[in-house]
Amino acid sequence: MKILTTFVMATALTVSASAMAAGDPAKGKATFAAKGCIGCHGAGGVSTAPAYPTLKGRSAAFVKENLTNFRSGKRKNPTMNGMAAGLTDEDIENLAAYIGSLQ
Ligand code: HEC
Repeated sequence: MKILTTFVMATALTVSASAMAAGDPAKGKATFAAKGCIGCHGAGGVSTAPAYPTLKGRSAAFVKENLTNFRSGKRKNPTMNGMAAGLTDEDIENLAAYIGSLQ
């Protein structure tokens, strides 16, 4: 019985961990506005200024990888290094889910 309980708990933990990893597009949309991303990358991720890339059409995996690299400094851009510095892992997951949903 104890073994069965442990198995059920482990399964539940795995499921909730993968649900978290998927990110929440609604929270990502709120973060996109709250963190000021929208000011450069535009409403719905469609930029209106040539200096700022349009994010609509980018996959969640691309956004997650690049925000992680901007945050660590692996990808260098003074503006985005500064923007990404204030993001938590959860923010990045949610932003990736939101931007990935825009295609
Ligand atoms: C002040 C303007 C500005 C703000 C605010 C800003 N960005 Fe950026 N972002 C840029 C610029 C400029 C680049 C291109 C950097 C480069 O050339 O490497 C970029 C690049 C990116 C990229 C990579 C796009 C690509 O095609 O390679 C992602 C993803 C991104 N930004 C997400 C965000 C998110 C999420 C936020 C909010 C937390 C944000 N940005 C806030 C200016 C901004």
